[in-house]
Order: sequence, then structure tokens, then C-alpha cells
Amino acid sequence: MGFVPTMGALHDGHLSLVKNSKSNNGLTICSIFVNPTQFNDPKDYEKYPNTIEQDIYKLESFDCDILFLPSTSEIYPLDADRKKHFELGYLEEILEGKWRPGHFQGVCMVVEKLLKIVEPDVLYLGQKDYQQCMVIRKLIEQMGMSEKIELKISPTVRETDGLAMSSRNLRLNADERALATSIYAMLMFIKKQVKNLPTDDLKRQATSMLEEKGFKVDYVEIAEARALDTIQKFSPQIKTVALAAAYLNDVRLIDNMILND
Ligand code: PAJ
Repeated sequence: MGFVPTMGALHDGHLSLVKNSKSNNGLTICSIFVNPTQFNDPKDYEKYPNTIEQDIYKLESFDCDILFLPSTSEIYPLDADRKKHFELGYLEEILEGKWRPGHFQGVCMVVEKLLKIVEPDVLYLGQKDYQQCMVIRKLIEQMGMSEKIELKISPTVRETDGLAMSSRNLRLNADERALATSIYAMLMFIKKQVKNLPTDDLKRQATSMLEEKGFKVDYVEIAEARALDTIQKFSPQIKTVALAAAYLNDVRLIDNMILND
């Protein structure tokens, strides 16, 4: 059985996971649960889009077998359920972990609960949230479930201009939407230049590219693809990923790109 956990406001990125699961499993379960514990900014939680009618319609049209739509009290019946601590080490001190304190603790809280309820054979996650995939891989290891649950990471689905699909894109106005593609352009620039320039120079240039367009940049990083250690010099034999997070006014966008392909 394949499992696709989501927070709803479904788009083609989410649906690609459902499609992958459908073609490899007898049964596909999708969950929709806007998890309060992973929002470090309460305003972000309040503003998170809710499009449940359309979501159900989309899941039906993709022949998703089961929608799991739990209430908050079903996932967190006790106060103590929101206080469990996960040992994520370095992985939660860097990148998203650094800029969104507590975020990955919240992700682990909900994903551990969901995995225990759903008991999937295969878990489908999107590369769009690259660090989240690494965190959940670690969680599954810590749960002692690595043998039982296979983790499949699906490629990022993009709009035609390169913008990574995201539920948060719904919050961009027309001007912001036009500028948002710059993150993809910047990642393509890094990919093209990574063999020619030291990574520090490249990150500086990439950051300026975004700032010139009016972004407030949280980070642009170039890291080894598994442990996410920063690298100084690109080596084609070592799988490497560029990751970025930046605000356009009050909408925070993240994206990443593998540099070796
Ligand atoms: P959400 O942001 O709804 O994303 C659900 C899944 O869809 C994640 O695995 C995410 O990486 C994937 N996804 C999002 N945009 C994508 C895109 N453009 N292409 C491919 N896959 C994409 O991530 C979460 O929810 C939550 O943190 C969750 C894991 C459900 C825990 O609450």
C-alpha cells in the first residue's frame, strides 16, 4: 500500500505522488491534515489555503483509493502528543531547521503518527521539500521501520516557467508570481556555473540575483545531497544539491536542484 501525506490545497505536484503510488501499489492512501505543530509562524498556519472540495474532486479524478482526513484531536488527542522530541541533530540545525525553529520537530510528530496509523509499505514524498525527505528518512530509521517502509522521492513538478508548484503560490499576487520564477533561474545558474566557480562566490552571486529582484533571502546553499553538509568545491562524483529559501513580501518560497544530472 502506498501513502501520500499532504496538507491539502492539492496541485499537480501532490497529484504526481498519487499517480506514482497508483502505478506501483494495489492501494493508495492520501492524507490531508494541516499540521499545526510544524508552523513556526502562527500567521502562516492561519493563512494556509483550504480547498477541500477541489482536493476531493482531484483525488477522485486520479482514482485515489482512500482519503484520510483526520481532525486535530484525532492526531493529537493529548497535550503530551505535541511535546515529543526527536533527535535530528545537525539536520535540524541547518537550512529550513535554522530559519524555521521547531518546524522539523512538528513534521516528525505528525509523520510518526500518520505512519503508525496508516502502516504503508511505500511512502511517497516530493523532492520539492528536499530537507524534509532527509529528515523523514532519519525518522523512519529511528522508528526502526527502514526495512518495512520504502521511501520514494518524486521529482519536483514545475509550472511551465520553472516555478516549483506549491500550495503557497496561491498567495502570490500577479507581480510576485511573475518574479517568483527567478528562484528557478537562479538554481539553473548555479547548476551551469558550479564547475567553474568556487561555491562561496557562486552563492554570493546567486543571492544577489534574487535580492535584485526584491527577494529577502533566507539562504542559498550548496550541499552534499544526503547529510546536507556544505561543500566548498563541487566534485561531479559526489551527489550535490543547491537549496534556497526566500521571501517575496510575506510569501516564503523554497526550491532545490540536484547539480550532478
Ligand atoms: P505538503 O506541503 O502538502 O506536501 C505534501 C507532499 O507533496 C510533500 O512530500 C511535498 O514534498 C510534495 N510536493 C509539494 N510540492 C511538490 C512539487 N511541486 N512537486 C513534487 N512534490 C511536491 O510536505 C508537507 O505537506 C507536510 O510537511 C507533510 C509531509 C504532509 C507533514 O505534515
